[in-house]
Amino acid sequence: MPKIPKTPSESSVEMREMVMPHHTNPQNTVFGGTVMSWIDIAAAMVGARHCNRPVVTVHIDEINFIAPIKMGYHVLIQASLNYVGRTSMTIGVKVTSENPSTGECRVTTKAYLTFVALDDLGKPVEVPGIRPESEDEIRRYENSKKRAESRKNLKDQLTYKK
Ligand SMILES: CC(C)(COP(=O)(O)OP(=O)(O)OC[C@H]1O[C@@H](n2cnc3c(N)ncnc32)[C@H](O)[C@@H]1OP(=O)(O)O)[C@@H](O)C(=O)NCCC(=O)NCCS
Repeated sequence: MPKIPKTPSESSVEMREMVMPHHTNPQNTVFGGTVMSWIDIAAAMVGARHCNRPVVTVHIDEINFIAPIKMGYHVLIQASLNYVGRTSMTIGVKVTSENPSTGECRVTTKAYLTFVALDDLGKPVEVPGIRPESEDEIRRYENSKKRAESRKNLKDQLTYKK
């Protein structure tokens, strides 16, 4: 039976962290792998909330580190569903740092990841469709479609050693 399409707002996730010494690199800013882990967790929760199944990361489509995040700063991680295929879901994540002394906020990282929903045997399983509603949700949906098409075009042109 076809599943009822869901809006991105039904599965969106917001997480907060505070940068502690064990999160940092030798520059005393957040280690990139830590940010990637926060992004992966937030996006995985979005995927699982959309399809109500276990999900796995299958592809990191894009990640841009725009600005460093300092020790002691607060970090807001916002993730939402951008696009779905048959069994896959593309999720966009925005990371914003906040200086707790001034309240000043800055977007530091943007990422797009693809997850696959799994059935009880660990095989890909169909996910509900997406019903983007707001202007932002529609823009993200269209951008995600273009990103997937452009990735496919590039893949067709590249050759890999078997
Ligand atoms: C996820 C996994 C089960 C998919 O298996 P598979 O044999 O590739 O399955 P399929 O070929 O049927 O692809 C399933 C979906 O994933 C998509 N997909 C597969 N590889 C992809 C890639 N590199 N990039 C983007 N999408 C991809 C397919 O397009 C398909 O999407 P659709 O159903 O929406 O059209 C398998 O690749 C896997 O187990 N990977 C490891 C996952 C993991 O351990 N992640 C890290 C920890 S969470």
